[in-house]
Amino acid sequence: MSRVAVFPGSFDPMTMAHLDVAGRAAALFDRLIVGVLHNPKKTPLFPIDERVELIRASVADLGDHVEVRSFDGLTVEFAEQHGASFIVRGLRAVSDFEAELQMAHTNRKLERRVDTVFLMTALEFGYLSSTLAKEVAQFGGDVSGMVPGPVAAALAARFR
Ligand code: PNS
Repeated sequence: MSRVAVFPGSFDPMTMAHLDVAGRAAALFDRLIVGVLHNPKKTPLFPIDERVELIRASVADLGDHVEVRSFDGLTVEFAEQHGASFIVRGLRAVSDFEAELQMAHTNRKLERRVDTVFLMTALEFGYLSSTLAKEVAQFGGDVSGMVPGPVAAALAARFR
């Protein structure tokens, strides 16, 4: 039986914390689809196509079984479209837990066949967020080690 998972998120932009979770999920599942949420109500720093391209460049080494796609609507529908039975989410700290618990229960209520699997983000990336990386880059700080190389280059270009 092939185990398929989606790893959904906003990824505006992908951080090393996201990449760490993607890498470990890629080792657990036969197929992993990173799902980039296109939310027309939000104005992200990076448009959807650029977020997808940056993730593709960042996960290139993880193997052909890792794909990156944009989606809108419900995560469980995105999972079903790709035949995925699992949603992967990273937990950085206890502060993530409440919102993630709520999301996991909501998704299970919507679709019982899809389960959420949590991976603890590696300790060294536990402090990281997309918001923090953008703020550091905006004020000219060094984001290497916080975001994958392609993202660091894109942030530098944005705030040059
Ligand atoms: O990177 P984020 O912003 O923490 O990701 C949140 C995301 C995209 C996983 C979540 O907002 C989501 O699943 N949105 C799609 C809409 C949906 O399915 N809502 C019901 C479950 S909360």
